[in-house]
Amino acid sequence: MYKSLADQTEEQLGGWFSVLSRQKRDHVELDRLIHAIENARGREREEQLTVLCRLVFPHAFAEESVLWPYLRRHVPDGEELTLHIEQEHQEINDLFTELEKLDPDSAEHRELFTRIVAVLREDVRDEEDELLPRFQNRSSRTELVRMGAAWEAVRRTAPTRPHPVVARRPPGNVLAAAPLTVLDRARDRLDRLARADRRFSAAARSGGHLLARAAGRIEHITPLTKGEDPSTHSAETSREEHRSSVPQQH
Ligand SMILES: [Fe+2]
Ligand SMILES: [Fe+2]
Repeated sequence: MYKSLADQTEEQLGGWFSVLSRQKRDHVELDRLIHAIENARGREREEQLTVLCRLVFPHAFAEESVLWPYLRRHVPDGEELTLHIEQEHQEINDLFTELEKLDPDSAEHRELFTRIVAVLREDVRDEEDELLPRFQNRSSRTELVRMGAAWEAVRRTAPTRPHPVVARRPPGNVLAAAPLTVLDRARDRLDRLARADRRFSAAARSGGHLLARAAGRIEHITPLTKGEDPSTHSAETSREEHRSSVPQQH
């Protein structure tokens, strides 16, 4: 039987720099942020949500582009377990895209956030109890540290917002990383500016919309949607592909 990361000390997980310790630290921080959002309103709630997205999306993006491809090859049941987690990540991307459209103080926002929290917690349990202990079982301390460094390098430079149309697997997600990261981080800064200073609020918000539109266009570039399992393929992509494959009427 495999031992959950939750029941192990940092030393047992391979030390501070091990990928397992890094994962667990982020998961603990995620829990803290969920509680902070549940207890916040208005701008404070929006600010905490930005912080949570900046944790969740780079974390998951780096899992999908660096860790899961490696684990699929080296862990028993890796294909099945990573696919299940990618499906959860896809659901989180879809739900956050919906959440962005709602007023943060509305009942609908709270309701949808509760659903998101349930999927986030399921994702953490699947990783800490099932997938990562299997990897631990097969890996030396050096390998855990090496994978920790690789995951961290991508995590620090990954997109910070939901992109449901982009593939959950290489090559699509790897190609998407650079342009979406630049746009997402610029949008985060504009959102913060809009919240912090009313004088810039309108300009910052319209700048944010422009960048959002640019990100939406980039997401739909065909190579960025390629590589994933059909079950995590966004319905929106299929519609786009269908549209572009329909001959134009003149
Ligand atoms: Fe994780
Ligand atoms: Fe995850």
